[in-house]
Amino acid sequence: MIENDLFLKALKGETVSRPPVWMMRQAGRYLPEFMAIKEKYDFFTRCRTPELASEITVQPIDIIGPDAAILFSDILVIPQAMNIEVEMKEGVGPWLPNPIRSVKDVDQVIVPDVHEELGYVMEAIKMTKERLANRVPLIGFAGSPWTIMCYAVQGQGSKNFDKAKEFCFTQPVAAHALLQKITDTTIAYLKAKVANGVDAVQVFDSWGGMLSPTDYKEFSWQYIQQIIDALKDETQVIVFGKGCWFALQEMAKSGAAALGVDWTCSPKNARYLTGGNITLQGNFDPSRLLSPPSEIKKMVTQMINEFGKDRYIANLGHGILPNIPVANARAFVDAVKAYGA
Ligand code: CP3
Repeated sequence: MIENDLFLKALKGETVSRPPVWMMRQAGRYLPEFMAIKEKYDFFTRCRTPELASEITVQPIDIIGPDAAILFSDILVIPQAMNIEVEMKEGVGPWLPNPIRSVKDVDQVIVPDVHEELGYVMEAIKMTKERLANRVPLIGFAGSPWTIMCYAVQGQGSKNFDKAKEFCFTQPVAAHALLQKITDTTIAYLKAKVANGVDAVQVFDSWGGMLSPTDYKEFSWQYIQQIIDALKDETQVIVFGKGCWFALQEMAKSGAAALGVDWTCSPKNARYLTGGNITLQGNFDPSRLLSPPSEIKKMVTQMINEFGKDRYIANLGHGILPNIPVANARAFVDAVKAYGA
């Protein structure tokens, strides 16, 4: 059905001529075409308007040519749908005016009907599938419950999410109640995304690396495992835990189709920790896209050699930065496409 199915083949562990490639945050501020839309519409208008969200999703496919699209949206549409106010402030980032700090706050958080509250995402998926016209697969995503809770409790981005950790360590019962509500909402949300046409899903645990290995199991991993268990018979699940190399061994046994790796973990170590049989995704340092294109090409070839071409999806180790020249992003994608040719 899908013309370029390299990404889906790699997720299934099938042999490929070259690895597939996409970039986390590939629909973003490094693209002038994205900035033109950003100038006219605020962040959540872009998320909530299927015409805009689908146009932004397809921009990098037309301009850069990766092997998969990822739906333009945000992980924070989930807390918004759960009755937690979320704003996006220019120059600040996510801003939650009424952060969760008590049992009473948790009680006021709802598990919504995702079809009702997040119907605009489902419309965006349908419209994107039309625009893509089966050229490449479409990835749907959600934040991990822990990463969502980081914002819900901290109220904004943070270097250490100290208030979120304090909440877990001083009010663990309330913290777990909140994490379970987020998990239940996320499972329903991702199932709806699959029903509306996404070809795979990725769970972003962007702040999992803030926790010790023991705390990670308690406050992050057990909820991600619930999500995998609920989704794995319906779709392929990718788990990306930033700074979570310490959990790779456990993650490899989870039923996830693929695991994301950041650039602080070598390909060799990632393969060793995961036993060599699971598809890995990553792990180019996003700042390395500032190197000249000729150097990017060399480093990409080396990265693929180290991971191996099969059971591998070339990607960055985290989202692309706004200051990356478009030519360099294209050099990254082109280098993967030229592998072995
Ligand atoms: O990958 C893609 O191209 C799809 C789009 C996408 C966005 N957010 C769009 C966005 C995805 C996958 C996300 C996920 C997301 N959002 C994460 C997890 C991934 C990661 O990078 O760790 C997190 C932690 C968030 C929360 C969030 N939203 C932050 C921290 C910011 C940045 C604030 C800033 O100003 O730098 C956002 C805003 C956001 N989400 C932007 C984009 C393109 C930039 C702001 C804008 O477009 O106006």
